[in-house]
This record gives sequence, C-alpha cells and structure tokens, in this order.
Amino acid sequence: DWNPQSILDEQVAAVRAVVGTEKVICALSGGVDSAVAAALVHQAVGDQLTCVFVDHGLLRAGEREQVERDYVAATGIHLVTVDAEQRFLAALDGITEPETKRKIIGREFIRVFETAAAEINAAEGGVKFLVQGTLYPDVVESGGGTGTATIKSHHNVGGLPDDLQFQLVEPLRALFKDEVRALGAELGLPAAMVKRHPFPGPGLGIRIIGAVDAERLAVLRAADAIVREEMTAAGVDEQIWQCPVVLLADVRSVGVQGDGRTYGHPIVLRPVSSEDAMTADWSRLPYDLLARISNRITGEVSEVNRVVLDITSKPPGTIEWE
Ligand code: XMP
Repeated sequence: DWNPQSILDEQVAAVRAVVGTEKVICALSGGVDSAVAAALVHQAVGDQLTCVFVDHGLLRAGEREQVERDYVAATGIHLVTVDAEQRFLAALDGITEPETKRKIIGREFIRVFETAAAEINAAEGGVKFLVQGTLYPDVVESGGGTGTATIKSHHNVGGLPDDLQFQLVEPLRALFKDEVRALGAELGLPAAMVKRHPFPGPGLGIRIIGAVDAERLAVLRAADAIVREEMTAAGVDEQIWQCPVVLLADVRSVGVQGDGRTYGHPIVLRPVSSEDAMTADWSRLPYDLLARISNRITGEVSEVNRVVLDITSKPPGTIEWE
C-alpha cells in the first residue's frame, strides 16, 4: 500500500544522490506541484536550493503572501521574488486574443525567469539543476502525440524551454495529483496550498474577457476573493473541481442601485465538477450560496452590477473562458 513517508524518504535520497553538492533552482507558481517538488528537494539538499517566484501581476488576492510568508515559514526555503507586474502589463497592453495573451505571458515568464536564474547563477557560483513539478499524467500527455489540434496552448511554470542550461530534477514524475497532495501534507506545507484548486499559469490574464489592465485586474481580484471566501465558508471546496471567476470587461449592462442608474460589468461564475478537466459538468451549488456571492460582489465591487452563472458542460464549453 501507498505510504507518503516512504515515498518521501525514497525521493529525498534519490535527489541527494543526483544533486550531490551542486546548486539547484526552482520556479514556484503558488501551485501544489512546484511547491511540493521544491519542498522535497529542500529536504534533500537544504540551502543548495534557491526558489524563484515571479509575480506577474495576474495572481489572485493573497497568493503572493501565501508563498512569501506561509510557504517560506513552513519550509525555510530561500526565496527570491521578482516583481514583474509592470513588464507583463506593458506586454499585454491592448491584447484581447486568448492565444496571443497566453503566448505573451509564457514568453515574458521565460525571460524573467532566465534573468533571475542568471543572477542566482552569478551569486551562487554555478547552478547545475532545475527542479520541475512534473507529474505522471504530464509525462504521459507530452509523450502521447495524439495528433489532435491544440485547443489551448497551456502555459505553466513546468513549461520552461528545454534549452535552459540546466539538468532537470523531477521528483514527482511517478506520482498522481492526489499522491502529490499527500506528500505536501507530509512535508507540512500550508493546507490552502496543498488543497488548492487548479489555477492556470496565465492567471487572471485569461479570466478578463477583453484587454488586461491594472484596474480590471483589481475588479476581478476583488470579486474572485469574495467567491473563494464564501465557497470555503460554505464547505463546498471539496465538492467541486474549481470555480473560475470571469470578468466580461467589454460588456456593460444597466442596473440600479439606490436611486442611481449604474452601467457596470458582469462577473461570471464558472463552478465545475470534473475528474480530470478533460470533461466537466457545471456544479449545482446551493442557491443560498450563489445568492450570498451575488449580493456581496454587487455590494462590495462597485464596477460590477450583475453576476451570472455559467451552466455549460465541457464539451461544448471549456472550463476557462479563454
Ligand atoms: P480548459 O479551459 O482547457 O481547462 O477546459 C482545463 C484545465 O486546465 C486549466 N488551464 C490551464 N492551466 N495553463 C495552466 O497551467 C493554462 O494556460 C491553462 N488553461 C487552462 C484550467 O484551469 C482547467 O483546470
């Protein structure tokens, strides 16, 4: 039977054997895979590991703090945060096409990471290894070659190019997601990170339908924080796969608040149930929870005057709107 402690011991020993006394870097995304991979490598080689967290400005409320404060407190990992919000916003300026957004975000991410890696390389005197949180399904998928057309060119921090001059360390290559979560718990990582729902690498950038800018990000971030807070309070997190919150930034509708007419934007809730994200059904969340979310968003986020529920399965809809 499957025992997280023995898997951990095995992988820690394996990493130690491969890495020896060399230096290692890792890009953290805030997601569970890179967090567990880095924590495991840290157990193996301690301060030979430096982690890089790129704040691309497309994160949700509290995510940076979760990595910088909670994750670092739990692991003792040496973390370098790169403030790259302005750079990403400049590169995304005026861009509305989803695949173009993804390509720009992926490209900028690689550039920022390469610069950070070069600096760490110079400071540490030679970095030989790069940790990646590749899981077994990722290995299978990339070797699959099914010949189907790309629907979305997924970008995540695992998507670094092969020509980076590092040898890869992938301690989660044989594991499935639930096993990685068990290892994360065993490693004492923050529960909110270990249990986190999937969140796309391009972040809120692909949840604003329309061009991305700082004001729109602030609106979406506020609405998203309310949704997550209410869902957690209602205890439904474990019943659903994830719940993208989407801002229709180019759509306006008329509303009324107090004595005044409003002309604001809709927020879309996209709660889905799924086994593997390949197919999904819309989640039948309790009406009173939906009502609380709607009341709070329209009451607390002044740019939003309408909250709508996406009741499309996948297919035909994808989970994300872009
Ligand atoms: P779709 O929208 O294709 O999403 O039904 C399937 C799953 O993948 C996530 N997703 C992404 N993850 N980079 C990621 O790391 C991306 O570019 C990306 N696009 C979608 C989505 O949240 C869902 O879990």
